[in-house]
Amino acid sequence: MSESQAWDDVDDYFTTHLAPNDEALEAALRDSAAAGLPDVAVTPSQGKFLHLLAQIQGARTILEIGTLGGYSTIWLARALPADGRLISLEYSARHAEVATRNIARAGLDALVQVRVGPALESLPKLADENPAPFDLVFIDADKSNNPHYLEWALRLTSAGSLIVVDNVVRQGRVADAHSTSPDVLGSRAAIELIGSHPRLTGTALQTVGSKGHDGFALARVLA
Ligand code: SAH
Ligand code: DHB
Ligand code: MG
Repeated sequence: MSESQAWDDVDDYFTTHLAPNDEALEAALRDSAAAGLPDVAVTPSQGKFLHLLAQIQGARTILEIGTLGGYSTIWLARALPADGRLISLEYSARHAEVATRNIARAGLDALVQVRVGPALESLPKLADENPAPFDLVFIDADKSNNPHYLEWALRLTSAGSLIVVDNVVRQGRVADAHSTSPDVLGSRAAIELIGSHPRLTGTALQTVGSKGHDGFALARVLA
């Protein structure tokens, strides 16, 4: 058996027992694919991981950067209390439209707001609204902007908040100090910012599975 076949088999096994998609999640993936959205949502096991992180965090407010079809949004929002709130930022109006339908079908439209536009334009507007600090921020958009998203996350959180960054490994390319790929440079800058910033402590974990070899960075806001 090839190594990646084993990753797929284990992912399938864990998903079946621990994180099966229900109708709303299945429909979100189906409609995203039908609308031609790229097949890059978190996996079910990763979605459940985000959901558990939000629960462990006791999150009442969540900020997501990069909505796509709302698949990760649904997992995260399901961890919120009835008066919780999730704001998700998405560049593409088409992605946001698909996501909004998927989120409504999951019965989460009262908790979730999708805001369309480049996140680096939406974030200052959001900051101007003086929102309560976000308990959890999930960064999963254009990887080249990850250090900027981390800086904004720091402005929009407070001590004890959790910041999660997706796709920091990208088949191992993050370890290439000579890479000129904007994605790799963005992920490396984010890792190094987490490691050096006085208000952050964090780690990163590699994952394997149906999306290949990738990983998450986790950072806790200290002050
Ligand atoms: N979080 C989703 C996947 C997001 S894919 C999930 O796991 O289900 C990345 C998304 O970020 C895409 O929908 C893409 O359109 C969006 N994106 C890319 N650049 C962006 C930007 N500058 N601002 C906001 N969103 C952006
Ligand atoms: C890809 C994967 C992601 O999880 C993402 O957020 C963006 C892109 C990819 O595999 O290309
Ligand atoms: Mg991602």
